[in-house]
Amino acid sequence: MMTDLFSKFDALIEQREHLLSTGLTDPFNLVMERVESPTVAICNGQRTILLGTYNYMGMTFDPDVIASGKQALDDYGSGTTGSRVLNGTYAGHKACEEALKTFYAMDHAMVFSTGYQANLGIISTIAGKDDYIVLDIDSHASIYDGCALGNANIVPFRHNDVEALEKRLKRIPDGAKTLVVLEGVYSMLGDIAPLKEMVAVAKAAGAMVLVDEAHSMGFIGEHGRGVAEAHGVIDDVDFIIGTFSKSVGTVGGFCVSNHPKFEILRLVCRPYVFTASLPPSVVATAATSIGKLMHGADKRAHLWDNSQKLHAGLKALGFTLGTETPQSAIIAVIMPDLEKGAAMWDALLREGLYVNLARPPATPANMTLLRCSLCAEHSADQVDQILGMFEAAGRATGCID
Ligand SMILES: Cc1ncc(COP(=O)(O)O)c(C=O)c1O
Repeated sequence: MMTDLFSKFDALIEQREHLLSTGLTDPFNLVMERVESPTVAICNGQRTILLGTYNYMGMTFDPDVIASGKQALDDYGSGTTGSRVLNGTYAGHKACEEALKTFYAMDHAMVFSTGYQANLGIISTIAGKDDYIVLDIDSHASIYDGCALGNANIVPFRHNDVEALEKRLKRIPDGAKTLVVLEGVYSMLGDIAPLKEMVAVAKAAGAMVLVDEAHSMGFIGEHGRGVAEAHGVIDDVDFIIGTFSKSVGTVGGFCVSNHPKFEILRLVCRPYVFTASLPPSVVATAATSIGKLMHGADKRAHLWDNSQKLHAGLKALGFTLGTETPQSAIIAVIMPDLEKGAAMWDALLREGLYVNLARPPATPANMTLLRCSLCAEHSADQVDQILGMFEAAGRATGCID
């Protein structure tokens, strides 16, 4: 018999065909035909409010950000065609790393081509075969992939459970080197980690700590440095990972650290060395955006108002949410199953609202979620419109009474 390496996808193909046979728009294949602003796009020919972009601070259309990208295109061309360790480090890459060092008040910053590669590279390079990585079970795929690439021993603990972390750390063999990996905001349910307690427990056990602040940078903490800043433990964290694809409003990833030997990573981190660096226009937009995020207190306050208003409104309508109170700019609406979730997603799109449909295996506990992420550029009026759309779609699909 002929081998068909695709047979393992049969169940998924069948499930997908079944879902689409009901006439729904494919939730994983939507085209943004035109994008007007951080909060509005044209989808299926219709003006659509965007509520699933992670564009928390709305920097994608910031005039200064756009101007710096255009200038870099003119001055440096469209791409570097090279690795950071060969011909791919331009003045703009260094300027972007300087902007990160200033933003976080840290000694070192290393820019990667994506946040995924930052986790992949840093985790796999610092924790290898005989080392241990203790991580929250709900960690992002890029964290798990980083663990797998480095071939470290993986010890997961129950989501956001400080005692479970402590117990796992006690079971690590004496003398083994350990990295604890945490996230500031968990992107599926929008809940934040008890970093103050967790970092204390990790440090007491002699472990190093890496925190992925992908969903908190720019928004959480007095200077927008993330949950570690908000919880007063940023100086105890060894490595912060982040992305340019959310609050910064472009693409790219990074790690910042005060570790005195950090710079050696540039020579030994494979996902940094064996790939081309970001285009000059991208690092220019990132550097400008990061500089502006340092002074984003008003935007942070407005984003917080939006999150609270949407959370309270959805709760009042009768939806079940991922958190009891809003903890971040992500609000997850829990759907009873994939069919209902897809129907609700489709009904919202028809109303003129885009949210993310999230399903297992990306979600915890097999949940189907409609993930909403707010933007500092959403007006109060847009949040009211969003609530009206949830009410109409919820009634039409029987998700609420
Ligand atoms: C927690 C977390 N880490 C890392 C990433 C990867 O970021 P990027 O989009 O820059 O690859 C994401 C993005 O989905 C994320 O949610």
